[in-house]
Amino acid sequence: MISLKSKREIEIMREGGKILAEVLRYLGGYVKPGIRTIDIDEKAAALIKERGAEAAFKGYRGYPANICASVNEEVVHGIPSERELEEGDILSVDIGVKYKNYFVDAARSWPIGTVSPLAEKMIKVAEASLYKAALPHLTAGKRLGDVSSAIQKYVESQGFNVVRDFVGHGIGQSIHEEPQVPNFGRPDRGMKLESGLVLAVEPMVTEGGYEVAILDNGWTVVTCDGKLASHHEDTVVVNEGMPEILTAWEKEI
Ligand code: MF3
Ligand code: CO
Repeated sequence: MISLKSKREIEIMREGGKILAEVLRYLGGYVKPGIRTIDIDEKAAALIKERGAEAAFKGYRGYPANICASVNEEVVHGIPSERELEEGDILSVDIGVKYKNYFVDAARSWPIGTVSPLAEKMIKVAEASLYKAALPHLTAGKRLGDVSSAIQKYVESQGFNVVRDFVGHGIGQSIHEEPQVPNFGRPDRGMKLESGLVLAVEPMVTEGGYEVAILDNGWTVVTCDGKLASHHEDTVVVNEGMPEILTAWEKEI
């Protein structure tokens, strides 16, 4: 079942989104060489709690941490640990926030110090695949396949690949709702988008092949070829005109 959110529900998710955007903005300035991913987890948990919200991933299907922190060849679902960030790493931080019984979900990827030009480009491509390629298609009357194919086309045109095995999703009173939102597909296919549909759109972009594997910890998704990956995610409301991004600052888009 696909749920469309009322104005009142969107108002709550907007507040949750603002909290999450603030937390991510703060963390973007906090990460640097020498910081451990567990430090980022603790910091995120405190910032979320301070704002009267909850870190939504903890305990979700047994997930052991507050956030996901994925480094280099880790694509998503990296478990925060004692690992220290090093100059040249790329880090993605994915956070779910529960606020007044509604969820929002977003991720950012950041270079740690100076990274290779290719890594820097990949981060920008993942971000632009959402803000430039997908956004114009996230509007009432378009189809889900228009969004998916726009992301894939843009990413591939820039020389990168999109992960197939993990996808975006609807979001609201559950963190994962229907429909699934793949980052690959064909235009003019799939469900018609309607005003009030809220989606977590999350391109996962790889430097090499798109094949991924899951580590023995049961969570961490890595590229099979060991090359870098980048992840960018926002919670977006479909409208008649331009969509509203609940989890970003105007300056980011
Ligand atoms: N943003 C991630 C997703 O939508 C959240 C993973 S939830 C976790 O898949 F708790 F399992 F990490
Ligand atoms: Co998500």
